[in-house]
Amino acid sequence: MNPNVTPPSQSAFGAVEAEFDALTSGVAALSANAETATPPETASADATQTQPHPSGGAKPRIRIGSAPVHASAMQSAESATVDALSGAGRAGAAPARESIFDVREMSVSYGTNTAISGVTMQIQRNMITALIGPSGCGKSTFLRSLNRMNDSVKGFSISGQVLYHGHDVYAGSVDPVEVRRRIGMVFQRPNPFPKSIYDNIAWAPRNLRMKDDLDRRVEYALRGAALWDEVKDRLHASALGLSGGQQQRLCIARAIAIEPDVLLLDEPASALDPIATLSIEQLMQTLKHRYTIVIVTHNMQQAARIADRTAFFSLEATSRAGVLVEYDDTDVIFTRPRDPRTSDYVTGRFG
Ligand SMILES: Nc1ncnc2c1ncn2[C@@H]1O[C@H](COP(=O)(O)OP(=O)(O)OP(=O)(O)O)[C@@H](O)[C@H]1O
Ligand SMILES: [Mg+2]
Repeated sequence: MNPNVTPPSQSAFGAVEAEFDALTSGVAALSANAETATPPETASADATQTQPHPSGGAKPRIRIGSAPVHASAMQSAESATVDALSGAGRAGAAPARESIFDVREMSVSYGTNTAISGVTMQIQRNMITALIGPSGCGKSTFLRSLNRMNDSVKGFSISGQVLYHGHDVYAGSVDPVEVRRRIGMVFQRPNPFPKSIYDNIAWAPRNLRMKDDLDRRVEYALRGAALWDEVKDRLHASALGLSGGQQQRLCIARAIAIEPDVLLLDEPASALDPIATLSIEQLMQTLKHRYTIVIVTHNMQQAARIADRTAFFSLEATSRAGVLVEYDDTDVIFTRPRDPRTSDYVTGRFG
Protein backbone atom coordinates (compact mmCIF):
# COMPACT_ATOMS: atom_id res chain seq x y z
CA MET A 1 0.00 0.00 0.00
CA ASN A 2 1.29 3.42 -0.80
CA PRO A 3 1.07 5.16 2.56
CA ASN A 4 0.75 8.54 0.93
CA VAL A 5 -2.40 8.10 -1.05
CA THR A 6 -5.03 6.63 1.21
CA PRO A 7 -7.30 9.36 2.47
CA PRO A 8 -8.05 8.64 6.11
CA SER A 9 -11.77 8.46 5.65
CA GLN A 10 -11.45 5.88 2.90
CA SER A 11 -8.92 3.55 4.40
CA ALA A 12 -9.63 0.26 6.05
CA PHE A 13 -8.77 1.56 9.48
CA GLY A 14 -12.42 1.80 10.32
CA ALA A 15 -13.51 2.91 13.73
CA VAL A 16 -10.30 4.34 15.14
CA GLU A 17 -9.62 6.33 12.07
CA ALA A 18 -13.21 7.44 11.89
CA GLU A 19 -12.74 8.87 15.35
CA PHE A 20 -9.95 11.10 14.21
CA ASP A 21 -11.81 11.81 11.05
CA ALA A 22 -14.69 13.02 13.17
CA LEU A 23 -12.34 15.49 14.81
CA THR A 24 -11.69 17.22 11.56
CA SER A 25 -14.58 16.27 9.30
CA GLY A 26 -16.62 18.98 7.75
CA VAL A 27 -13.63 21.24 7.54
CA ALA A 28 -14.61 22.29 4.08
CA ALA A 29 -17.46 24.08 5.73
CA LEU A 30 -15.02 26.25 7.60
CA SER A 31 -14.46 29.60 6.05
CA ALA A 32 -11.66 29.91 3.55
CA ASN A 33 -9.85 32.32 5.81
CA ALA A 34 -9.89 29.96 8.77
CA GLU A 35 -7.45 31.45 11.20
CA THR A 36 -4.33 29.75 12.32
CA ALA A 37 -4.36 30.02 16.04
CA THR A 38 -1.37 31.29 17.91
CA PRO A 39 -0.35 28.91 20.67
CA PRO A 40 -0.98 30.57 24.00
CA GLU A 41 1.97 32.58 25.20
CA THR A 42 3.64 31.02 28.14
CA ALA A 43 6.42 32.18 30.35
CA SER A 44 7.21 28.68 31.40
CA ALA A 45 10.57 27.16 30.67
CA ASP A 46 9.11 24.22 28.84
CA ALA A 47 10.79 22.58 25.91
CA THR A 48 8.25 23.91 23.45
CA GLN A 49 9.48 27.45 23.94
CA THR A 50 12.33 27.05 21.56
CA GLN A 51 10.29 25.51 18.80
CA PRO A 52 9.65 27.21 15.52
CA HIS A 53 6.29 28.87 15.51
CA PRO A 54 4.09 27.68 12.70
CA SER A 55 1.59 30.47 12.44
CA GLY A 56 1.84 33.98 11.25
CA GLY A 57 0.55 35.50 14.44
CA ALA A 58 -3.16 35.76 13.68
CA LYS A 59 -5.28 35.99 16.80
CA PRO A 60 -7.00 32.72 17.63
CA ARG A 61 -10.68 32.88 17.03
CA ILE A 62 -13.42 30.41 17.62
CA ARG A 63 -16.89 30.25 16.27
CA ILE A 64 -18.84 29.56 19.40
CA GLY A 65 -22.28 31.04 19.15
CA SER A 66 -23.41 33.14 16.23
CA ALA A 67 -20.29 35.23 15.81
CA PRO A 68 -16.59 34.45 15.84
CA VAL A 69 -15.20 35.14 19.24
CA HIS A 70 -11.62 36.08 19.94
CA ALA A 71 -9.95 33.58 22.23
CA SER A 72 -8.61 36.42 24.31
CA ALA A 73 -12.15 37.58 24.92
CA MET A 74 -13.09 34.08 25.90
CA GLN A 75 -10.49 34.22 28.59
CA SER A 76 -11.77 37.51 29.93
CA ALA A 77 -13.21 37.98 33.34
CA GLU A 78 -16.65 37.81 31.81
CA SER A 79 -16.25 34.30 30.48
CA ALA A 80 -13.73 32.86 32.89
CA THR A 81 -15.34 31.04 35.71
CA VAL A 82 -13.82 30.68 39.10
CA ASP A 83 -13.54 27.20 40.39
CA ALA A 84 -15.91 26.89 43.27
CA LEU A 85 -14.40 23.55 44.14
CA SER A 86 -10.81 24.68 44.33
CA GLY A 87 -10.46 24.50 48.02
CA ALA A 88 -13.89 25.72 48.95
CA GLY A 89 -14.41 25.25 52.63
CA ARG A 90 -10.84 24.18 53.31
CA ALA A 91 -8.48 26.19 55.40
CA GLY A 92 -5.45 27.45 53.51
CA ALA A 93 -7.12 26.94 50.16
CA ALA A 94 -5.20 27.67 46.99
CA PRO A 95 -6.02 30.90 45.20
CA ALA A 96 -8.91 30.80 42.73
CA ARG A 97 -7.94 29.25 39.42
CA GLU A 98 -9.23 30.03 35.98
CA SER A 99 -11.58 27.43 34.62
CA ILE A 100 -11.60 26.37 31.00
CA PHE A 101 -14.63 24.12 31.41
CA ASP A 102 -17.57 24.67 33.68
CA VAL A 103 -19.68 21.53 33.51
CA ARG A 104 -23.06 21.83 35.15
CA GLU A 105 -25.32 18.92 35.96
CA MET A 106 -24.18 16.90 32.96
CA SER A 107 -26.18 13.72 32.42
CA VAL A 108 -25.57 11.47 29.46
CA SER A 109 -27.62 8.56 28.21
CA TYR A 110 -27.23 6.05 25.44
CA GLY A 111 -30.78 5.13 24.59
CA THR A 112 -32.43 4.30 27.89
CA ASN A 113 -29.14 3.62 29.70
CA THR A 114 -27.96 6.53 31.82
CA ALA A 115 -24.18 6.52 31.64
CA ILE A 116 -23.50 9.52 33.85
CA SER A 117 -25.80 11.54 36.02
CA GLY A 118 -25.61 15.09 37.37
CA VAL A 119 -21.89 15.75 37.01
CA THR A 120 -20.85 19.25 38.00
CA MET A 121 -17.19 20.19 37.90
CA GLN A 122 -14.79 22.81 36.63
CA ILE A 123 -11.58 22.07 34.79
CA GLN A 124 -8.76 24.48 35.25
CA ARG A 125 -6.43 26.05 32.77
CA ASN A 126 -2.89 24.70 32.36
CA MET A 127 -3.44 21.87 34.74
CA ILE A 128 -3.62 18.14 34.37
CA THR A 129 -6.96 16.82 35.54
CA ALA A 130 -7.19 13.05 35.93
CA LEU A 131 -10.46 11.14 35.74
CA ILE A 132 -10.34 7.88 37.68
CA GLY A 133 -12.90 5.26 38.65
CA PRO A 134 -14.05 1.71 37.97
CA SER A 135 -14.80 0.42 34.51
CA GLY A 136 -18.14 1.57 33.14
CA CYS A 137 -18.54 4.57 35.46
CA GLY A 138 -18.57 6.99 32.53
CA LYS A 139 -15.06 8.43 32.39
CA SER A 140 -14.80 8.13 28.62
CA THR A 141 -18.36 9.29 28.21
CA PHE A 142 -17.61 12.40 30.24
CA LEU A 143 -14.37 13.08 28.37
CA ARG A 144 -15.92 12.63 24.95
CA SER A 145 -18.85 14.81 25.88
CA LEU A 146 -16.48 17.74 26.44
CA ASN A 147 -15.70 18.07 22.75
CA ARG A 148 -18.85 16.58 21.25
CA MET A 149 -17.16 13.36 20.19
CA ASN A 150 -20.28 11.49 21.25
CA ASP A 151 -22.56 13.39 18.91
CA SER A 152 -22.56 10.66 16.32
CA VAL A 153 -23.07 7.80 18.78
CA LYS A 154 -26.43 6.16 18.28
CA GLY A 155 -28.86 6.98 21.07
CA PHE A 156 -26.57 9.58 22.68
CA SER A 157 -28.35 12.33 24.58
CA ILE A 158 -27.04 14.90 27.00
CA SER A 159 -28.58 17.32 29.44
CA GLY A 160 -27.07 20.03 31.59
CA GLN A 161 -24.41 22.36 30.30
CA VAL A 162 -20.82 22.17 29.14
CA LEU A 163 -19.47 25.70 29.21
CA TYR A 164 -16.14 26.15 27.46
CA HIS A 165 -14.70 29.58 28.19
CA GLY A 166 -18.22 30.44 29.23
CA HIS A 167 -19.84 29.27 25.98
CA ASP A 168 -22.20 26.32 25.82
CA VAL A 169 -20.56 23.85 23.44
CA TYR A 170 -23.95 22.23 22.79
CA ALA A 171 -25.70 25.45 21.84
CA GLY A 172 -27.44 25.14 18.50
CA SER A 173 -25.30 27.76 16.81
CA VAL A 174 -21.99 26.15 17.74
CA ASP A 175 -19.94 24.47 15.05
CA PRO A 176 -18.86 21.07 16.44
CA VAL A 177 -15.91 20.95 14.06
CA GLU A 178 -14.52 24.12 15.57
CA VAL A 179 -15.12 22.72 19.05
CA ARG A 180 -13.05 19.66 18.19
CA ARG A 181 -10.33 21.78 16.66
CA ARG A 182 -9.97 23.72 19.88
CA ILE A 183 -10.39 20.65 22.08
CA GLY A 184 -8.16 17.91 20.71
CA MET A 185 -8.33 14.25 21.58
CA VAL A 186 -5.94 11.33 21.83
CA PHE A 187 -7.31 7.82 22.14
CA GLN A 188 -6.33 4.77 24.11
CA ARG A 189 -4.89 2.91 21.17
CA PRO A 190 -2.32 4.73 19.03
CA ASN A 191 -4.05 5.19 15.71
CA PRO A 192 -1.62 6.56 13.15
CA PHE A 193 -2.84 6.72 9.60
CA PRO A 194 -1.13 4.42 7.10
CA LYS A 195 0.79 7.39 5.84
CA SER A 196 4.19 8.89 6.37
CA ILE A 197 5.11 10.48 9.68
CA TYR A 198 5.04 13.85 7.96
CA ASP A 199 1.67 13.31 6.37
CA ASN A 200 0.13 12.12 9.63
CA ILE A 201 0.94 15.49 11.16
CA ALA A 202 0.22 17.54 8.05
CA TRP A 203 -3.12 15.94 7.26
CA ALA A 204 -5.34 17.94 9.59
CA PRO A 205 -3.61 21.30 9.02
CA ARG A 206 -3.97 20.76 5.28
CA ASN A 207 -7.66 20.03 5.67
CA LEU A 208 -8.13 22.96 7.97
CA ARG A 209 -6.33 25.20 5.51
CA MET A 210 -3.51 25.83 7.93
CA LYS A 211 -1.05 25.15 5.16
CA ASP A 212 1.33 28.03 5.58
CA ASP A 213 4.80 26.87 6.37
CA LEU A 214 3.71 23.31 6.78
CA ASP A 215 7.26 22.05 7.32
CA ARG A 216 7.67 24.28 10.33
CA ARG A 217 4.26 23.29 11.64
CA VAL A 218 5.17 19.61 11.41
CA GLU A 219 8.46 20.23 13.18
CA TYR A 220 6.71 22.30 15.83
CA ALA A 221 4.21 19.54 16.54
CA LEU A 222 6.82 16.79 16.60
CA ARG A 223 9.04 18.79 18.92
CA GLY A 224 6.06 19.51 21.12
CA ALA A 225 5.41 15.80 21.41
CA ALA A 226 9.08 15.11 22.14
CA LEU A 227 9.39 13.00 19.00
CA TRP A 228 11.34 15.23 16.64
CA ASP A 229 14.82 13.95 17.44
CA GLU A 230 13.72 10.36 16.93
CA VAL A 231 12.05 10.88 13.56
CA LYS A 232 13.60 13.94 11.94
CA ASP A 233 15.66 11.79 9.59
CA ARG A 234 12.77 9.62 8.49
CA LEU A 235 9.84 11.98 8.19
CA HIS A 236 8.69 10.35 4.98
CA ALA A 237 8.81 6.80 6.29
CA SER A 238 5.57 5.12 7.26
CA ALA A 239 4.23 6.01 10.70
CA LEU A 240 3.31 2.37 11.10
CA GLY A 241 7.01 1.60 11.49
CA LEU A 242 7.18 3.49 14.78
CA SER A 243 7.07 1.78 18.15
CA GLY A 244 3.87 1.90 20.18
CA GLY A 245 5.16 4.69 22.40
CA GLN A 246 6.38 6.64 19.39
CA GLN A 247 3.02 6.13 17.67
CA GLN A 248 1.20 7.51 20.69
CA ARG A 249 3.50 10.55 20.75
CA LEU A 250 2.82 10.90 17.02
CA CYS A 251 -0.90 10.99 17.81
CA ILE A 252 -0.23 13.67 20.41
CA ALA A 253 1.80 15.58 17.81
CA ARG A 254 -1.10 15.23 15.40
CA ALA A 255 -3.42 16.74 17.98
CA ILE A 256 -0.97 19.57 18.69
CA ALA A 257 -0.53 20.35 15.00
CA ILE A 258 -3.88 22.07 14.83
CA GLU A 259 -3.04 24.10 17.91
CA PRO A 260 -5.80 23.17 20.27
CA ASP A 261 -6.45 24.81 23.60
CA VAL A 262 -7.26 21.59 25.43
CA LEU A 263 -6.00 18.02 25.07
CA LEU A 264 -8.29 15.18 26.11
CA LEU A 265 -6.52 11.86 26.55
CA ASP A 266 -8.37 8.62 27.14
CA GLU A 267 -5.97 6.14 28.76
CA PRO A 268 -3.16 7.21 26.43
CA ALA A 269 -0.55 5.00 28.03
CA SER A 270 -2.54 1.88 28.78
CA ALA A 271 -1.11 0.01 25.80
CA LEU A 272 2.47 1.09 26.45
CA ASP A 273 5.39 -0.39 28.34
CA PRO A 274 6.68 1.36 31.48
CA ILE A 275 9.41 3.28 29.66
CA ALA A 276 7.07 4.59 26.97
CA THR A 277 4.54 5.35 29.70
CA LEU A 278 7.10 7.40 31.57
CA SER A 279 7.94 9.34 28.46
CA ILE A 280 4.24 10.13 27.88
CA GLU A 281 3.94 11.24 31.50
CA GLN A 282 6.97 13.51 31.18
CA LEU A 283 5.48 14.89 28.01
CA MET A 284 2.23 15.71 29.83
CA GLN A 285 4.16 17.72 32.39
CA THR A 286 5.72 19.77 29.62
CA LEU A 287 2.55 20.19 27.62
CA LYS A 288 0.47 21.42 30.51
CA HIS A 289 2.29 24.75 30.40
CA ARG A 290 0.80 25.25 26.98
CA TYR A 291 -2.42 23.27 27.08
CA THR A 292 -5.08 22.25 29.53
CA ILE A 293 -5.01 18.48 29.84
CA VAL A 294 -7.73 16.07 30.91
CA ILE A 295 -6.65 12.45 31.14
CA VAL A 296 -8.55 9.27 31.89
CA THR A 297 -6.41 6.67 33.58
CA HIS A 298 -6.85 3.38 35.39
CA ASN A 299 -3.36 3.70 36.74
CA MET A 300 -3.56 5.15 40.24
CA GLN A 301 0.18 5.77 40.43
CA GLN A 302 0.02 7.59 37.16
CA ALA A 303 -2.77 9.86 38.36
CA ALA A 304 -0.89 10.51 41.59
CA ARG A 305 2.32 11.26 39.68
CA ILE A 306 1.08 13.59 37.02
CA ALA A 307 -2.30 15.10 37.89
CA ASP A 308 -2.82 18.39 39.64
CA ARG A 309 -6.49 17.63 40.16
CA THR A 310 -8.24 14.29 40.29
CA ALA A 311 -11.90 13.45 39.86
CA PHE A 312 -13.15 10.13 41.17
CA PHE A 313 -16.19 8.75 39.38
CA SER A 314 -18.15 5.73 40.51
CA LEU A 315 -21.37 3.88 39.83
CA GLU A 316 -24.30 4.99 41.92
CA ALA A 317 -25.45 1.96 43.91
CA THR A 318 -29.11 1.82 42.87
CA SER A 319 -29.31 3.52 39.48
CA ARG A 320 -25.93 2.16 38.29
CA ALA A 321 -25.32 5.51 36.61
CA GLY A 322 -21.89 7.06 36.79
CA VAL A 323 -21.58 9.87 39.29
CA LEU A 324 -18.79 12.20 40.35
CA VAL A 325 -18.01 11.20 43.91
CA GLU A 326 -15.16 13.53 44.72
CA TYR A 327 -13.00 16.06 42.95
CA ASP A 328 -10.08 17.78 44.53
CA ASP A 329 -6.37 18.37 44.42
CA THR A 330 -4.67 15.08 43.66
CA ASP A 331 -2.89 14.81 46.98
CA VAL A 332 -6.21 15.23 48.79
CA ILE A 333 -7.83 12.46 46.75
CA PHE A 334 -4.96 10.08 47.43
CA THR A 335 -4.03 10.96 50.99
CA ARG A 336 -7.10 12.35 52.73
CA PRO A 337 -10.24 11.85 50.65
CA ARG A 338 -13.46 12.94 52.22
CA ASP A 339 -15.70 10.22 50.82
CA PRO A 340 -15.24 6.61 51.96
CA ARG A 341 -15.95 5.43 48.41
CA THR A 342 -12.91 7.35 47.20
CA SER A 343 -10.83 6.00 50.01
CA ASP A 344 -11.88 2.42 49.22
CA TYR A 345 -11.04 2.87 45.56
CA VAL A 346 -7.66 4.54 45.88
CA THR A 347 -6.52 2.08 48.50
CA GLY A 348 -7.59 -0.84 46.33
CA ARG A 349 -10.40 -2.07 48.54
CA PHE A 350 -12.84 -1.62 45.67
CA GLY A 351 -12.65 -1.83 41.91
N1 LIG B 1 -21.22 3.99 22.31
C1 LIG B 1 -21.95 3.54 23.34
N2 LIG B 1 -23.19 3.06 23.13
C2 LIG B 1 -23.94 2.60 24.16
N3 LIG B 1 -23.54 2.59 25.44
C3 LIG B 1 -22.30 3.07 25.70
C4 LIG B 1 -21.44 3.56 24.67
N4 LIG B 1 -20.30 3.97 25.23
C5 LIG B 1 -20.42 3.72 26.54
N5 LIG B 1 -21.62 3.20 26.83
C6 LIG B 1 -22.11 2.81 28.16
O1 LIG B 1 -21.97 3.93 29.02
C7 LIG B 1 -21.50 3.52 30.28
C8 LIG B 1 -20.20 4.24 30.59
O2 LIG B 1 -19.22 3.80 29.67
P1 LIG B 1 -17.81 4.48 29.52
O3 LIG B 1 -17.13 3.86 28.36
O4 LIG B 1 -17.97 5.95 29.50
O5 LIG B 1 -17.11 4.06 30.90
P2 LIG B 1 -15.59 4.14 31.35
O6 LIG B 1 -15.60 4.65 32.75
O7 LIG B 1 -14.80 4.89 30.36
O8 LIG B 1 -15.17 2.61 31.36
P3 LIG B 1 -13.72 1.95 31.09
O9 LIG B 1 -12.90 2.28 32.30
O10 LIG B 1 -14.01 0.51 30.98
O11 LIG B 1 -13.17 2.54 29.83
C9 LIG B 1 -21.38 2.01 30.24
O12 LIG B 1 -22.57 1.46 30.77
C10 LIG B 1 -21.27 1.72 28.76
O13 LIG B 1 -21.78 0.45 28.46
MG1 LIG C 1 -13.22 4.38 29.07
